Amino acid sequence: MLIAVNTTLGHTDRGTGTPLLFLHAFPLHAEMWTPQLTVLSALARVLTVDAPGRGRSASMSPVPSLDERAVRICALLDLLKIPKVVLVGLSMGGYNAFAFYRRFPERVLALVLADTRAQADTPEARAGRTAMIRTAETQGHGPIADAMLPKLLGKTAHETRPELVQQVRAMIHSVPIPAIVSDLQAMAARPDSTDLLPTIRVPTLIIVGDEDVPSPPADAREMADRLPQPQLAVLTHAGHLSNLEQPEAFNQAMKDFLGTLKGRT
Ligand code: MLT
Repeated sequence: MLIAVNTTLGHTDRGTGTPLLFLHAFPLHAEMWTPQLTVLSALARVLTVDAPGRGRSASMSPVPSLDERAVRICALLDLLKIPKVVLVGLSMGGYNAFAFYRRFPERVLALVLADTRAQADTPEARAGRTAMIRTAETQGHGPIADAMLPKLLGKTAHETRPELVQQVRAMIHSVPIPAIVSDLQAMAARPDSTDLLPTIRVPTLIIVGDEDVPSPPADAREMADRLPQPQLAVLTHAGHLSNLEQPEAFNQAMKDFLGTLKGRT
């Protein structure tokens, strides 16, 4: 019996011009990019991609490897006949951007690394992921959302934007548990990318929320110091999901960065 396996990543594709490809955070999906899709597609071609096993990629089996996810992203670019993209990754999306750049540097016009870090997991962090896998498999979404929300959203959002807290909680609940487990496995297995930073030969914008606890501004500055062509935007009153917490400031940083790329192909 032949079984058709869908290997094309589910995605949105809106607008024309320079292609921007957005990679989402854990344990979320591509809908987290709605404020960017809405605004930036007026001036560029905006693609948002769901990692396997959720959202528009729900029919694909989860893939517990960032490297393999990078291969799928490249296959999508091939299918869409897009030679190069501005790759935008937030947190886990940033880890995925490192994996993609390591393998396909010639397909990257520029990078945006938001609220992410280059270091691999410490042994303690890996043990924490193993524990979270057990929790997800035995207790479901509730405890995962409870554990992640204080990390994902900053102090200001928690104090002033209950609707955003609810929106992110609902997003976490809509990601199937096997996809959450595959993210944890993929992140735990990722290599250190610190040595990759000085080899990144494309303009790179680092965005970080000043209230980001998991990937704090100090880590962002350290990354910028190692990059050959860095730009850094620190967003005020934003935590880890800076694109959702301060969408106007995030979009403005993106627009300014895209302005500096004019004429590059
Ligand atoms: C994310 O937002 O993608 C996660 O916080 C990343 C991580 O757990 O390292």
